[in-house]
Amino acid sequence: MNILVIGSGGREHALAWKSAQDKSVANVFVCPGNAGTALEEKVTNISIDAYNFEVVEKFCKEENIELVIIGPEQPLVMGMADFLQSRGIKTFGPSQAAAQLEGSKTFSKDFFVKYGIPTAGYSSFDDFESANNYLETIDYPTVVKADGLAAGKGVIICKNKKESRQALESIFQDQAFGDAGNRVVIEEFLEGEEASFIAVVSKDKIIPLATSQDHKAVGEGDIGLNTGGMGAYSPAPIVDERIHEKIINEVMKPTVEGLIAEGFPYLGFLYAGLMIKDGELKVLEFNCRFGDPETQPILIRLKSSLVELCLAAINDEMDMYDISWTDKHACGVVIASAGYPESYESNKQVTLPIRLDQDVKLFHAGTKLFNDNVVTSGGRVFCATALGDDLKSAQSKAYNLVDSVTFDGAFYRKDIGFKGIK
Ligand code: AMP
Ligand code: GLY
Repeated sequence: MNILVIGSGGREHALAWKSAQDKSVANVFVCPGNAGTALEEKVTNISIDAYNFEVVEKFCKEENIELVIIGPEQPLVMGMADFLQSRGIKTFGPSQAAAQLEGSKTFSKDFFVKYGIPTAGYSSFDDFESANNYLETIDYPTVVKADGLAAGKGVIICKNKKESRQALESIFQDQAFGDAGNRVVIEEFLEGEEASFIAVVSKDKIIPLATSQDHKAVGEGDIGLNTGGMGAYSPAPIVDERIHEKIINEVMKPTVEGLIAEGFPYLGFLYAGLMIKDGELKVLEFNCRFGDPETQPILIRLKSSLVELCLAAINDEMDMYDISWTDKHACGVVIASAGYPESYESNKQVTLPIRLDQDVKLFHAGTKLFNDNVVTSGGRVFCATALGDDLKSAQSKAYNLVDSVTFDGAFYRKDIGFKGIK
């Protein structure tokens, strides 16, 4: 069988690497992919325009693609899954309508309220004036969010009224997030510990994946700007059995049932970003895709087939799929380019380890091949991922791997996994 993965990040490298392990899989194509996918056995990068759905359809038909897995949110929000499915191509990913859960914060917040899903209090605004007036009426800190897609960077935590006003100016007046900032959500600040809860969903069926925790802030101790994620580990002890059950009952079930009631049943990875405090939880956001970097530590723990899981979801046969995991713990540390999440330089020559130890994997993200050499091409460049008997040993193996990768300006957080170890 041939498979196509859409995307170019660390998540897509992990999806392609895992898919290629299936004996039934002959070729995994990645569009556009990165240097890591280019170097992977059975995996080939293709350079067609992923956003030209007709071109992708033509490629799928020519190469007998039997499964398309869409990695990032952008093509999902643009309706790529609807398009390919309507042309008879088996595609794993939600419809455009369902992807609004991530594509619009106002849509998702209104959805949470309608279906009784716990979340922070909020108001949304289409113009600077009314948002600015609202700042007079609230407590601080508060959270200002661009409504649309902003690669995880459109959220600004504001200590006071002045910072909030600056955030509104940068979104509405300076258009820091482009059209994604035509509308703004101002939200109650929540305290607690975050977790990522990701499941495979097919209509009303839910298969939860292993639990995980991301590190959104750029600096150690969760200080500094928000990023797409600087590292993740799995499992996350904060999600104990009781919390797990609460997430299923209070978040996942009402969400998939709500989506069915709205007329757009879900198919794909569904990711709830949660804040947990004193045994209670609230949803920070939904993503309509797998997390990046959560995918890397989660998939390195998955023993059963990813391809069969996606096909079971598409074919409405989730009851027949047995998911299995290694008991080992996994830790993934992102190596980023100096300056990220703000501006950074690319095209830095990378030195890679010659041999990898067992149970470690260097997932590429912002890399490309240039004259057969690996060079940097993005903000997040690698995710050094390792398995260990406990989180501490996974963490130390991941950092050993980090030490064996060098490029000019490389930086990483030195505390990935600290909450799981404390
Ligand atoms: P979001 O894209 O909405 O998940 O926000 C990105 C990150 O901003 C989250 O992972 C949190 O770290 C932080 N954040 C978002 N909303 C809140 C909130 N209401 N209270 C505290 N932190 C938040
Ligand atoms: N790691 C956070 C995300 O994928 O949105």
